[in-house]
Amino acid sequence: MQRLGLRVPVVLAPMAGGPGTPQLAAAISQAGGLGSLGAAYLSPTQIAEAGAVVRAHTERPFGVNLFAPQPLPPVTQAQREAALAELAPLHAELGLPPPALPERTQEDFSAQLGAVLALRPAAFSFAFGRLGGVELEALRGQGILAFGTATGVEEVLALAADGVDAVIVQGGAAGGHRGGWLREELADTLTLVRAAREVTALPIIAAGGLMTAVEVRAALDAGAELVQCGTAFLRAAEAGTPPPYRAALAKAHPGTTTLTRSFSGRLARGLVNRVTAEVQRPLPYPFQNALTRALRAEAAQTGRAEFLSLWAGEGAHRGQEGTAADLLRALWPG
Ligand SMILES: Cc1cc2nc3c(=O)[nH]c(=O)nc-3n(C[C@H](O)[C@H](O)[C@H](O)COP(=O)(O)O)c2cc1C
Repeated sequence: MQRLGLRVPVVLAPMAGGPGTPQLAAAISQAGGLGSLGAAYLSPTQIAEAGAVVRAHTERPFGVNLFAPQPLPPVTQAQREAALAELAPLHAELGLPPPALPERTQEDFSAQLGAVLALRPAAFSFAFGRLGGVELEALRGQGILAFGTATGVEEVLALAADGVDAVIVQGGAAGGHRGGWLREELADTLTLVRAAREVTALPIIAAGGLMTAVEVRAALDAGAELVQCGTAFLRAAEAGTPPPYRAALAKAHPGTTTLTRSFSGRLARGLVNRVTAEVQRPLPYPFQNALTRALRAEAAQTGRAEFLSLWAGEGAHRGQEGTAADLLRALWPG
């Protein structure tokens, strides 16, 4: 909190793909927490623009998040055909042309990181893997704190060895993509905080299922310095969560989330819908993510929640509506 100048020990989870607007990030920072921009799907120009919007709303520190680069996985022609065939009827149902894999499936990480270095946010977080020494050094050179994401102790140790400034530990209840890379771990958030505390003196940021002031306090008591909350802010006035997604969240009940690869090829937690039930042969990330983009965009436009990626954590049914500042106050009454 001291190094970032925070008044509230809550980090807004970066939420790429719509919910995480610059306005939401600015509102959280302005209210004393650390707002974050989920920039994984943004081009370098869009990163600069989003950062400028945050700065137009607040002078307080904020963070930017990207997905660590990974080699593209091999995909066979048979896999590709199976994935396309499975999506074809859903496209037809929405009146879309048949699905096609775009030439470009993801942004260029080094160009994105270049935009982050130029923007100089107070913090930079990453998920899905490790960064190289050159990249961490470049961040340090700009005075940007680097946070890596771990879903298990082995990943905590790897990130600590790399020299990150803090570790985000993501429990299995968390909404959105699993941020780890070594194994598919779904630890209880508080158990993971305690285990991480045993192996590192680095600041720990606890993420996953933290929806109330009592739960935030429990994570800090377990040894975390900060918490990172996403699902608790999905229905904030400033969030970019489209109306059908908000409506699905309002109807959520315990047990309505699932872990799925259907949308992106990477395991992620979200509300159950037709895509999570019907799409069983996704391509690996980032190909499936690129392949389902048209479907998701059309579903958002036309209000069809059954075809949208409704990322949400296990606490989804306990989420509230309100301004970001109100929701932050509910997590940290101060
Ligand atoms: C809609 C949504 C989008 C997310 N996008 C990202 C992202 O772009 N980068 C990232 O590191 N984590 C992302 N996450 C995961 C969060 O960083 C965090 O682990 C999670 O929100 C914590 O659990 P909670 O949702 O129960 O609060 C996302 C989570 C949600 C709900």
